[in-house]
Amino acid sequence: MASKQLKEFTFEEVAKHNKEGDLWIIVDSRVYDLSKFVNLHPGGAAVLLVETIAGRDATDAFFGLHRQEVLYRPQYARLQIGTIKGQEPLIKPLATDALSQVPYAEPSWLTPGFSSPYFKESHHRFQKAMRKFVNEVVLPDAIRCEDNGKRISQEVVNKLGEMNIIGMRLGPGKHLKGKTLLGGVITPEEFDHFHELIINAEIGRCGTRGYIDGILAGNVIGLPPILNFGSPELQAKIVPDVLAGKKFICLAISEAFAGSDVSGMQTYAYKDGNEWVISGTKKWITNGVFADYFTVGCKTDDGYTVILVPRSDELSTKPIKTAYSAAAGTAFVTLDKVRVPLSNTLGKEGKGMSVILSNFNHERWMILTISLSTHRLIVEECLKWSQQRRAFGKPLNSQAVIRAKLAQMIARVESAQSWLENVTHQMNNMSYTEQSDKLAGTIAFLKQYVTSTGRATAEDAAQLFGGRSVTQSGMGKLVENFHRTSPYDAILGGAEDALRKMPKNARL
Ligand SMILES: Cc1cc2nc3c(=O)[nH]c(=O)nc-3n(C[C@H](O)[C@H](O)[C@H](O)COP(=O)(O)OP(=O)(O)OC[C@H]3O[C@@H](n4cnc5c(N)ncnc54)[C@H](O)[C@@H]3O)c2cc1C
Ligand code: HEM
Repeated sequence: MASKQLKEFTFEEVAKHNKEGDLWIIVDSRVYDLSKFVNLHPGGAAVLLVETIAGRDATDAFFGLHRQEVLYRPQYARLQIGTIKGQEPLIKPLATDALSQVPYAEPSWLTPGFSSPYFKESHHRFQKAMRKFVNEVVLPDAIRCEDNGKRISQEVVNKLGEMNIIGMRLGPGKHLKGKTLLGGVITPEEFDHFHELIINAEIGRCGTRGYIDGILAGNVIGLPPILNFGSPELQAKIVPDVLAGKKFICLAISEAFAGSDVSGMQTYAYKDGNEWVISGTKKWITNGVFADYFTVGCKTDDGYTVILVPRSDELSTKPIKTAYSAAAGTAFVTLDKVRVPLSNTLGKEGKGMSVILSNFNHERWMILTISLSTHRLIVEECLKWSQQRRAFGKPLNSQAVIRAKLAQMIARVESAQSWLENVTHQMNNMSYTEQSDKLAGTIAFLKQYVTSTGRATAEDAAQLFGGRSVTQSGMGKLVENFHRTSPYDAILGGAEDALRKMPKNARL
């Protein structure tokens, strides 16, 4: 916002400044002097000099073409010279910890007057602090990096470490013992999968899919095998640095030869004395470009074995050009006779498949909670846009066909949210092993539901935003990002599971 002294004007006074060289307009009771800016205006000078805009209240025209954030960018905020006498701006930036007032923009547990059997006072406290943190610390970096393709900035990583968000993203567990969580908003004893869900949901609201993976998704999937299957010495060496944001890890399972069918892996490890010698390639490895450690799935003489491999001259990475931002650090990894000690083995030799599979539930749950949150953000975008965009003399949302689309979008996010909350509750009440046994199918189905309904909303949203849904800046930027990247959520984290555990004696 402009900090200079603002004057008050009447509509009549503003109306006198309606020509080239002397051009004022009103947007939401704020008066702007565009006399010099007019020739720099990205939308051109001509549109500002017409009779219906120059010297007039251009609020509707403005919000039909710009996101409100344009008004808050410093270079444009300083064009404001005053306000309209006796009026207050209606449209203001929300406080960084505020909830959206748009119906269905927040899940019901965050909607005033609604209650929830799952979310307690500590979740509300945590959500408020997390939203503030994401809006103030993460979002500006997310917008910048999504655009320029650079990895998450180290200052943000350091703050994620300080707040212990890197650790909390792995879920509840011994790694949080004695830690101060989010500046002390909750205790490690209070922390459960609903707090973790909140972290994912708040991150999902950035709407910048490449950066969202770049915000250390590699740690979330690469570190649990160390925590659950690594030796105490290995854990002591690796875990503290990763949790503090000093080092990065990633999960390197997929290969050009093997994705859904992990058993097709060709990366081969053999023993030479007290070392593993590993050769092969890995593909689509999130954060691999900047990772220091790689949790690598290998074929070994007696099955599959997962081995921790530090970056070295024998392990090289190169970025893979994907349709989402290079901020994700997606890599092709080449291992050329890499030598690591046998003590870097995670779990039992030859039993790597169970290490890999045990990781999948949590990974899929993380992907879908983020995806659903971005999906909800897109619904909010559509609700706002269909209200502010006028066509054929009416807002878009006055058309029955548009209202039907909006209703379907809302039903999709609400149904998925209810299912997600139920699953998360089960996770809170099951051990890690029980989760693998009982929830694998359900989480796979939920992921399938969230991603397929997300695709349906992405299509509807793109239609609703028209041409704006293909531009990476301006009104439709979030819809464009979701439409381009939401198919990823169906792919990463593996193929969708088949129905398991049908009783053998079940008959019609
Ligand atoms: C952006 C991105 C990030 C990724 N990050 C990582 C990472 O960090 N680490 C990592 O190890 N991997 C990562 N992956 C790889 C990802 O896990 C694989 O792409 C995924 O497992 C699918 O494997 P695939 O691409 O080889 O497809 P394929 O296995 O070739 O499958 C092709 C298609 O067939 C379907 N399909 C396969 N088997 C069946 C079946 N039995 N029944 C029905 N349909 C089937 C699949 O669903 C898919 O639609 C990432 C992928 C992407 C796109
Ligand atoms: C305070 C006044 C204004 C400022 C600071 C401003 C700024 C901008 C900016 C930054 C853009 C680039 C797109 C974006 O980032 O969203 C833009 C585009 C545009 N503006 Fe403005 N603008 C103002 C007023 C207006 C008004 C009153 C009109 C009315 C007709 C207008 C019409 C347009 C058009 C047609 C575009 C192109 C939109 C597109 O490509 O989709 N602008 N403006």
